[in-house]
Amino acid sequence: MSKPSLSIHHLNTTHIADVMALQNKIIVGLNPDEQHFILHRTEADYMKSLTGKSSRMVGIFDNGKLIAQLIYGLPQNGENRDMPEFRPDIANDKLVIFEAILVDPAYRGHGLMHKMLDYIEKTALDKKRNHALIQIAVDNPASWMNALHYGMKITKVDLDPIDGAKVIYLEKSIQRNKSTSSVSHISDIYHMHIVNNIHKKAPQLFKKMQYLSEQGYVGIAFDKKTLSLVWVKEDIIPTNRKPFYKDFASYQQEQKFIHTR
Ligand SMILES: CC(C)(COP(=O)(O)OP(=O)(O)OC[C@H]1O[C@@H](n2cnc3c(N)ncnc32)[C@H](O)[C@@H]1OP(=O)(O)O)[C@@H](O)C(=O)NCCC(=O)NCCS
Repeated sequence: MSKPSLSIHHLNTTHIADVMALQNKIIVGLNPDEQHFILHRTEADYMKSLTGKSSRMVGIFDNGKLIAQLIYGLPQNGENRDMPEFRPDIANDKLVIFEAILVDPAYRGHGLMHKMLDYIEKTALDKKRNHALIQIAVDNPASWMNALHYGMKITKVDLDPIDGAKVIYLEKSIQRNKSTSSVSHISDIYHMHIVNNIHKKAPQLFKKMQYLSEQGYVGIAFDKKTLSLVWVKEDIIPTNRKPFYKDFASYQQEQKFIHTR
């Protein structure tokens, strides 16, 4: 591979062939037990996002070659939006919804998903949107780790109402000033070990995550030392917490008042 020269920008209808080719490449690269990670979209589906106002696409190019892409929704008030089951209390015109995130396997491991989320966040803020949503398969850690990395929190765990897939829902309140605005009081912490054979164990993982979520726990970080997803119960959840913690000690350090059972 020649020296990468990456650029990121919005896509339009002239990119449709590249968009389809990248999706096909990724579908071929996914194992049978990973196919549910993404919807297999048609050309007509993508054209809606390449021409639309409420749905758009961003891509990353290496020397002119499309190597990563993402659809994001900016729904208007009064229209049916994707994922209506999540945060129906927030007006459409305050939301940005991330979907169909694909990174060429040859370019993984460089945080390109995170890069696209950051890029879209700026556009969303310009359009006075202040809340980001995403839905991810429970057994897709590469994707939910990136979402946690970016500062999202797991606040709902459920079956997708359309296809019954076991999914987690993450959200993030977005704002220009990145300062942490409130101090949270943690009343409980739960470390959930993430097993190696995640696809086989997805039903158990889902059940446990759903239980934690129903009990008021929020998934906030991945602790690399213990290979566990960290869930906390907080009296006040900061609206813009530091996004991701390399280990749980750095998370604890940030907390001024902390006590665990
Ligand atoms: C999800 C996806 C977009 C992320 O690509 P990316 O931006 O290159 O992500 P990275 O590889 O840089 O980062 C992934 C993170 O997850 C971790 N990760 C990756 N695979 C993992 C696995 N199987 N188990 C645990 N962690 C994993 C990586 O270690 C990394 O964490 P780190 O930065 O703390 O080290 C890419 O994997 C992809 O295209 N997957 C197929 C399509 C898909 O699932 N899309 C998401 C739909 S919501």
